[in-house]
Amino acid sequence: MASEKHFDEVTGTHTTGHVWDGDLRELNKPLPKWWLYVLYVCILWSIAYWILYPAWPSLTDYSKGYLGYSQRAEVANDIAVAKAAQEKYRQGIANTALADIPKNPELMQFALAGGAALFGDNCSGCHGRGAQGSVGYPNLNDDDWMWGGALDNIHKTISFGIRNGNEQAHSTAMPRFGLDGALEPAVINDVASYVRSTGGLEADKDAATRGAAVFAEQCSVCHGEDGKGNQELGAPNLADSIWLYGNSQKDVVTSITTGRGGIMPAWDGRLDPVSVKMLTVYVHSLGGGK
Ligand code: HEC
Ligand code: HEC
Repeated sequence: MASEKHFDEVTGTHTTGHVWDGDLRELNKPLPKWWLYVLYVCILWSIAYWILYPAWPSLTDYSKGYLGYSQRAEVANDIAVAKAAQEKYRQGIANTALADIPKNPELMQFALAGGAALFGDNCSGCHGRGAQGSVGYPNLNDDDWMWGGALDNIHKTISFGIRNGNEQAHSTAMPRFGLDGALEPAVINDVASYVRSTGGLEADKDAATRGAAVFAEQCSVCHGEDGKGNQELGAPNLADSIWLYGNSQKDVVTSITTGRGGIMPAWDGRLDPVSVKMLTVYVHSLGGGK
């Protein structure tokens, strides 16, 4: 490689003086100035950054930087601030009677948001995302309540559950009229027809008439003379159009033959008291609260 500056006519550019193989020359085309300056600025920036912020890892630690900034500390701080804010509301809920929570808009908003999240985590598996229920799992959006829709009723249901063995759970269960041999299949068919007719469904008239007498004798203790149910016993209203276990003749016959005995877990002990309160207010707010 010889060295000899040269002006290249074809491109109108000086060469660097590097020559290979006699006449292979390197044109002198430096990087544009603006590009170089940007590069210098970047280098300065990175040096400033190394000095100010954590940058270099070592075997056991890392350079902390002049400002001592830490994203982790920042997040921990944010969480602590959020927790403290929540704690204020949770304390408020703990110290406020259920019936008074809806009167305090701030607490209510917190309880509803928290209740909705808790519901999604703990209840929606059975009652559905929107609390709309499904066969055997009641819809909590309507104003048809088996165990009562006042705040205190809902609080008790959520705290102790239903037929789960907890001492304070709702525990009345409907007899298994067919399985226990208390009623013959034909009689069950009659009383099913009667029950369906009180619920406004088409049913065999003669069968329904015969069934009415059976109902008065066997069923009205729990479901009431008029079939409108009894919330002390969790006996559903049979004279409306809402059926937990289906309203076909076959479904109703099965309900009477086997009893259903739906089970709901207790949440007392599994969730803290403030969470149970928030859930109560949330469920109560869904539309059917009394
Ligand atoms: C394992 C399924 C299951 C889970 C989980 C569950 N439930 Fe239930 N829940 C039921 C069943 C079944 C019933 C109806 C039982 C019966 O009376 O026959 C019920 C009834 C209720 C009732 C009474 C409805 C009425 O008409 O009186 C309320 C209120 C309720 N659940 C709220 C909740 C809340 C809030 C949660 C979450 C903390 C929850 N449930 C979690 C199964 C469940
Ligand atoms: C000891 C009280 C009791 C007696 C007596 C009783 N029931 Fe029930 N019945 C209940 C309870 C509680 C439920 C709710 C069961 C559940 O959700 O698991 C129920 C549920 C039902 C259902 C299901 C309702 C639905 O929405 O799907 C039908 C139908 C029914 N009963 C009919 C009868 C008939 C007919 C008789 C008389 C032959 C009768 N019951 C006697 C307590 C009783």
